[in-house]
Amino acid sequence: MPNPRRPDKYQQQARADGYEARSIYKLREIDDKLRVIPKKGGILDLGCAPGSWSRFARERGGPGVKIVGIDLQPVENYVGEAIEGSILEVPASRFLELLGGRARLVMSDMAPSTNGNKSSDHLRQIELVRMAFSVAQEVLAHDGAFVAKIFDGSEVPTLMAELKPWFRDIKRIRPEAVRQESREFFIAGLGFKRPAEPVRGEIDAPSALS
Ligand SMILES: C[S@@+](CC[C@H](N)C(=O)[O-])C[C@H]1O[C@@H](n2cnc3c(N)ncnc32)[C@H](O)[C@@H]1O
Repeated sequence: MPNPRRPDKYQQQARADGYEARSIYKLREIDDKLRVIPKKGGILDLGCAPGSWSRFARERGGPGVKIVGIDLQPVENYVGEAIEGSILEVPASRFLELLGGRARLVMSDMAPSTNGNKSSDHLRQIELVRMAFSVAQEVLAHDGAFVAKIFDGSEVPTLMAELKPWFRDIKRIRPEAVRQESREFFIAGLGFKRPAEPVRGEIDAPSALS
């Protein structure tokens, strides 16, 4: 069993590299494999605190990317514009306004507060991904990418089936930095198929695309 008081190699590396959290190495591996971080345009960072994903996205994307984040927690020294609050409270129009247009990438590392019950933690996480995708439906540009954290469980096949028609390709990826004992993995939807009239809250495939 890992010692919870002793920083693991990714925590040590994050400190040494000047990142706020060890989660940075998950996004780095996802981007190394799938190239989801754009060189220009907008990135929406859902669950952005304490800020390591955005710092990495700025480094990899360069000065041409505009990063907007949201989190329940305040974020200090955020590399873009950070909103404090829940994604449920903020209308997509606010994200679009701050981004200055549609995003090339919507990334969600959001996690609910867990209670240790695998089944209910899984279901809450699935709902969070559905909420994140609901935002992405309004904010993501055609051909953009959607990355979201999931905890594995019985609802995953249903969720994947819901998301599949909206993307050219969907990948499932478990970065090395995910803790061994965790059921966490990430889905990456590549090549978003933007319908003419998106409706927030609808996750069904657009009829024009199916
Ligand atoms: C694992 S942390 C994100 C780490 C971040 N990617 C980084 O690298 O710094 C998950 C975050 O999701 C946030 N979160 C959970 N539910 C949320 C919601 N409904 N709206 C906004 N943020 C949420 C939590 O407050 C928490 O800070």
